[in-house]
Amino acid sequence: MYNEIDLDIIDINSEPPTEEPFRQYYFMAKCRRWVKDFEQKNGRLPKSFVLNMGCQMNARDSEKLSGILRRIGYIPAEEEETADFCIYNTCTVRDNADQRVYGRLGHLNSLKKKKPSMKIALCGCMMQEPGTVERIRRSYRFVDLVFGTHNLYKFAELLADALEQDRMIVDIWEGTDAIVEELPVERKIPFKSGINIMFGCNNFCSYCIVPYVRGRERSRNPEDILQEISALAADGVVEIMLLGQNVNSYGKNPKGRMNFAGLLREAEKIEGIRRIRFMTSHPKDLSDELIRVMAESDKICRHLHLPLQSGSTRILGKMNRHYTKEQYLSLVERIRGAMPDIALTTDIIVGFPGETPEDVDETIDVIRRVEFDNAFTFLYSKRTGTPAAAMENQVEESVMKEGFDRVLKVVQDTARKRVALLAGRTMEALVEERNGQDASLLTGRLSNNTLVHFPGDPSLIGQIVPVSLKEYKGFYYLGERSL
Ligand code: SAH
Ligand code: SF4
Ligand code: F3S
Repeated sequence: MYNEIDLDIIDINSEPPTEEPFRQYYFMAKCRRWVKDFEQKNGRLPKSFVLNMGCQMNARDSEKLSGILRRIGYIPAEEEETADFCIYNTCTVRDNADQRVYGRLGHLNSLKKKKPSMKIALCGCMMQEPGTVERIRRSYRFVDLVFGTHNLYKFAELLADALEQDRMIVDIWEGTDAIVEELPVERKIPFKSGINIMFGCNNFCSYCIVPYVRGRERSRNPEDILQEISALAADGVVEIMLLGQNVNSYGKNPKGRMNFAGLLREAEKIEGIRRIRFMTSHPKDLSDELIRVMAESDKICRHLHLPLQSGSTRILGKMNRHYTKEQYLSLVERIRGAMPDIALTTDIIVGFPGETPEDVDETIDVIRRVEFDNAFTFLYSKRTGTPAAAMENQVEESVMKEGFDRVLKVVQDTARKRVALLAGRTMEALVEERNGQDASLLTGRLSNNTLVHFPGDPSLIGQIVPVSLKEYKGFYYLGERSL
């Protein structure tokens, strides 16, 4: 495996290799030299702070950044205040994500004034927007390094530059076909891991910025994915989450020999893996074959995140979602027919241009009929460059909020009702951590993604144990370990 390459034997005085991933290991070696000099001068190793601000895919990217930093010799800082290097991996799916970045940058500026040697980097989806980079160049001149989503694999090379220079380095690519394998990754949780099976998105839902900032859909080779899963299993991972913006179109771009259902079948065979999750499924591409594979599987979790976005066929058309209200409902029927105990969760947008209170009623109707176990409800956010941003009839904020509150109420009522049905059952939970509020409790996750808190010893963390669900507290359970 490349990521076992010994950095100390790389000759950093020679020219850098052109081939990846060797080139990046060369730059990791170069950065490591810098880290050693830092240690000599300061009597300690430098600290790095990586902040993930986006979805699971971004979280996985952040683990790659952390992995590279760790290989170079940085030690993780708990917060920005003690860090010598800070990197924010940004999201731009809604405007409030952007605002969060600008807010935190103000704070970083004051930290850097106190410690001028601190280096600050920004990467991720928000950097792929031309307006953002201009604004950073203009008003946030203390930032040292800016790069995007397509060249994340070049992080070591960019960092080597940033450590040597005092000017802002900006490297943003419009797109890429490259998938660079075998770079270091550091998992946040030892027994759970996300795995990218594809990058980018081709769906161009009319409200969504993701296809513009993540580029075209590219599936990884099944061999590389399966090899990664096997390596993770050997390293103690029991639960995996296969990641893509639309996992149901896995293997279509480029055309491969394995589709998503096939990939799941293969992943299931890997010893040591006990649970398989995936995210996200676009309803338009969810096949009967996938439902069958899920129903027959012992390892694929009884949970499906199936974004609805809207229950109004008219709005779905304008959103470019390629399904109707009826098609969505019939899909849910087929899924529940095959797996009656499956938990369904969803995403809903309220306030899409032209949406009327009657359209919101249609959304509420779907929520009532499906009874989602949970739903993430978002206020529509206008993203510059998307078709929806140019549509007439943008909905007024007060109307949006009114619709949002109506939807949220139904979501909460139906979810409570649905999740309450589990009371009294004994189910397997993967113990994830100590409860944040009450240290005598552990927090476990059921196959259907519901959380349960129960008394137990922290030595159980990482194990799958049966727990009886005693008391439903609205979105989670209190339980007892059952022996
Ligand atoms: N690929 C995934 C979603 C990624 S974005 C999918 O298709 O399901 C996660 C969620 O953010 C989306 O499901 C959508 O509900 C929401 N979202 C995306 N763009 C948005 C926007 N402009 N305003 C509000 N919510 C948005
Ligand atoms: Fe955005 Fe639609 Fe792609 Fe999901 S499928 S990332 S909502 S464009
Ligand atoms: Fe955000 Fe990028 Fe994910 S925009 S939702 S971090 S793909």
